[in-house]
Amino acid sequence: MREIILVANWKMYKTISEGLEFIECLKQKIKGKPKVIICSPFTALSNIKEALKDNGLELGAQNLFYESEGAFTGEISPVMLKDAGAKYVIIGHSERRCIFHETNDFINKKVIAAIENNIRPIFCVGEKIEDRRSDLTEMIIRKQILEGLENINKDNLENIIIAYEPVWAIGTGLNAKPEEASEVHRFIRNTLNETYNNKIGENITILYGGSIKEDNIEGLGKMEEIDGGLVGGASLNCNVFSSIWSKLKTSKSI
Ligand code: PGA
Repeated sequence: MREIILVANWKMYKTISEGLEFIECLKQKIKGKPKVIICSPFTALSNIKEALKDNGLELGAQNLFYESEGAFTGEISPVMLKDAGAKYVIIGHSERRCIFHETNDFINKKVIAAIENNIRPIFCVGEKIEDRRSDLTEMIIRKQILEGLENINKDNLENIIIAYEPVWAIGTGLNAKPEEASEVHRFIRNTLNETYNNKIGENITILYGGSIKEDNIEGLGKMEEIDGGLVGGASLNCNVFSSIWSKLKTSKSI
């Protein structure tokens, strides 16, 4: 059985006190499955870690640099993330790819560095609207998967969580239809099965992300191929996020 997960990607929102207030609220509202990972800004990581103690919620970061230490002004290493308590890290988010020009090769170095430091990558892939319109979705996703996960062995691959996030759906209010998302998730699994020459694609958790809301999570969650969600805007409000969590739980009957 694949793990069902809901990730909150707070992006560049929430001060330490705002983050702590959210966690206090969330602790009252959710218990058990599906698993929740809170990806907080760097500045709040260690405070949030403290607040998450003993309640089953997990902590993630939103980025890292691939070196362990050195003269890299402004960067944060995997060692530092671990020290602050992060067990997961988002890598390859489209905002990093588009705004900060991160390439598949650069992203691959980050995935390797995270794995070497026992931090589970939440590895994001997704096509732009022009790719979809030109029927290039599968080509783009395949390239992101093969280049982003290059040189990662099968055992480590199982520790990676993949997030399919069509760029045209992020922060736009336009989510992919459940069937559309499901089709790409199946394509990702097939690509992994073919590349690694076994059934690894069937065991990997693949989340959908892009304008997840209270009114679309059930439809997405009902799809067998979709193992949960990566939530941006709708993860900032505790009531909204916990309602998304409850609906995901119902749709997966867990
Ligand atoms: P969104 O963001 O839910 O606001 O569309 C998702 C993401 O960026 O991970």
